[in-house]
Amino acid sequence: MDRLDKVLSNLGYGTRKEVKALVKDGMVEVDDVTASDSGMKIDPEISEIKVSGEIVNYRKHIYLMMNKPDGVVSATFDNYDETVVDLLEPEHQVFKPFPVGRLDKDTVGLLLLTNDGELNHRLLSPKWHVDKVYYAEIDKAVDEKDIRAFKEGITLDDGYECLPAKLEILQADEHGSKVHVTIQEGKFHQVKRMFNSRDKNVIYLRRIKFGPLGLDEELAEGEYRELSQEEIETLKKV
Ligand code: URA
Repeated sequence: MDRLDKVLSNLGYGTRKEVKALVKDGMVEVDDVTASDSGMKIDPEISEIKVSGEIVNYRKHIYLMMNKPDGVVSATFDNYDETVVDLLEPEHQVFKPFPVGRLDKDTVGLLLLTNDGELNHRLLSPKWHVDKVYYAEIDKAVDEKDIRAFKEGITLDDGYECLPAKLEILQADEHGSKVHVTIQEGKFHQVKRMFNSRDKNVIYLRRIKFGPLGLDEELAEGEYRELSQEEIETLKKV
């Protein structure tokens, strides 16, 4: 049970004072009865709240899929750069979501944001080996030897031995290559460093899949949407 004004304020309906004013003006209903006390205790999971006649979409946790653009950092705050959280509407920012893992500033594509710490922890835990799929463009010709090396496990510059990764060549010649890479971990700059260890450079990187979820093609870079209930359930089963 929580105070009505606290619940509405947390959902972005204004400060406690503003919510109090809404209640005073008779704009708030709880289970079809006009609320008279902004401090009334309610269970938002059970009661239906309406503000100005509109049903309040109550949720404790928020789950967003963003098509992260280039030049934005995967953080909640940064002194210099724009962050992925800066790109969210205030109605989503009030939930205080944070990115699930990180994409480099110049990497684009699928980034999940949530305020569900438990799910975040599970998705990032090395224990669960959640597959991440990337589309990458490489400056040189990728070949069968690279595929084998990725499969056997690349050793990074700091000596870390990567888990087996899947490398698929979409196109390759002396001018460069287009590939899909599937990794189970998320070490700092991992895909770039894996190719560096093969004496090659990643010149473009886009994440196209995170666990069971593919990047929604409808989302332009910089856009995001809430996950559907079904997508949330699928993620939680990972
Ligand atoms: N690997 C990288 O090198 N960068 C990313 O942003 C993600 C994976």
